[in-house]
Amino acid sequence: MKTTIAVANGDGIGPEIMQAVLKIFKANNVPLEYEFVEMGKSYFDAGHSTGMTDQAKETIEKLGILFKGPMETPKGKGVKSINVTARKVWNTYANQRDFRTLNGVETVFSKAGIPINLTIIRENIEDTYGGIEHLLTYDVAVGRRIITRPGSEQVIRYAFEMVRRKGYKKLVCGHKANIMKLTDGLFLEVFKEVAKEYPDIEASDIIVDDLCMKLVSRPQMFEAIVLTNLQGDIVSDLCAGLVGGLGFAPSANIGDNISIFEAVHGTAPDIAGRGIANPTALLLSGISMLRFLGYSSNAAAIENSLLYTLEQGVHTGDFGDKSTPSLGTTDFADAVIANLGKVPADGGVFAEADFQVKQNASPIKNKLTLSTGAKVEEEMIGVDVFVESKVQPNELAEVAKKSLRFNENFNLVMISNRGTQVWPTGSIYTELVNEYRIRFEKKPGTTIKQKEILHIAADLSEDVKVCSVEFLMNFGGKIGYTLAQGQ
Ligand code: NAI
Repeated sequence: MKTTIAVANGDGIGPEIMQAVLKIFKANNVPLEYEFVEMGKSYFDAGHSTGMTDQAKETIEKLGILFKGPMETPKGKGVKSINVTARKVWNTYANQRDFRTLNGVETVFSKAGIPINLTIIRENIEDTYGGIEHLLTYDVAVGRRIITRPGSEQVIRYAFEMVRRKGYKKLVCGHKANIMKLTDGLFLEVFKEVAKEYPDIEASDIIVDDLCMKLVSRPQMFEAIVLTNLQGDIVSDLCAGLVGGLGFAPSANIGDNISIFEAVHGTAPDIAGRGIANPTALLLSGISMLRFLGYSSNAAAIENSLLYTLEQGVHTGDFGDKSTPSLGTTDFADAVIANLGKVPADGGVFAEADFQVKQNASPIKNKLTLSTGAKVEEEMIGVDVFVESKVQPNELAEVAKKSLRFNENFNLVMISNRGTQVWPTGSIYTELVNEYRIRFEKKPGTTIKQKEILHIAADLSEDVKVCSVEFLMNFGGKIGYTLAQGQ
């Protein structure tokens, strides 16, 4: 049975590499039909603020799969990246990138005979990619990092399922929970909870800086790694470097209803239109799409032919042996087609068992709400009021205490600057910027209301500019905020 997918050619080298990949698919009789959709730079230029036509959006939402070339987002026009927007609006919560040694693509590791075969799963929606940032004072910018329990669970569960499907044995969670105790701490906590449901998989965790060091010194240690969005972004480009660069890096953005398959590289405007672009990354993305759709024998045949072709030293201008002539995009695709049926020296890859795709199983009518549904007791403890001030901490403490003359249920417990405690104790050497955090906590044995807390901020604003307010809460008896350094 054929599957219809949406295809967007993209900008720059996009149409050239897409044509090459679809030619290879055709030669292998891949059971796909295509609906081409209008997305990319020219649609921004034509006034579509999201970079796509309504028809394109409708088609993608109907078909559930988008295979796309790289796209350019116009700079300086205030429009958001079409690539990031597509991933977010369609909730493709897991970004999967498979990295493997490709014979014919020389790297430090291939020369040393160290094989690399690892997969990075990166959370694709949350973290700092919410782009929620504010200038609190002219000198101080802050950004919100959002990590949620259900959002983490979704991607971590996907990672465990992927590991099982691939027949891997291990999954590692990369994080920085030693510093970001509540955000990365939550991601790690969920990882450990979900791991209990997969006793057949060896689950472990590693601090992300240690992970980077180990990836560049002993990449063969790893099979699969799951990370939050920003750390995953950086670590996956690091892994692309291990196997030969972005020209060999495929990417799958997986969601429950819509999934997007694309190359990691951009539109390469410097070589666009010259017919010399390397289609390998888009082809590898197409191969993972075929596996995702359950066409694993087509995927294996095309992958084996690609591996064999690379192994023969066939290359485009951006890689390979410079002493042998390079092929253009179409000739490279033709070489892969001519090698269909051949397998690389290591025996190649095999077709995996097909698996049922969930895509578009039941079209949705309302937006989905993610919730763990957990019921835990909440207790309000106090408030952090962020203020702009240039005075010394002792003087600010007097101002803060003054605001408590109407709010007798609270104590002033701490003042910090850039996260480091500067009152009641601190070091004279701690440098100060013009934004402080003033922490008020309820007196023991009292119960407080949110309204009282807001009154503190209002009273404080009589004497000092309030920049923002953050409530202090306990959940299920556990403290739901961090202490200042030195507190
Ligand atoms: P780029 O990846 O387009 O180019 C970087 C360098 O790599 C260039 O020298 C280019 O010629 C080379 N290169 C990239 N892909 C190649 C291929 N397949 N074959 C041979 N050489 C290749 O990155 P850049 O220049 O930063 O971005 C250009 C445009 O692409 C920007 O408008 C950017 O927003 C967009 N972009 C789109 C992405 C997407 O659609 N997912 C991802 C990254 C960038």
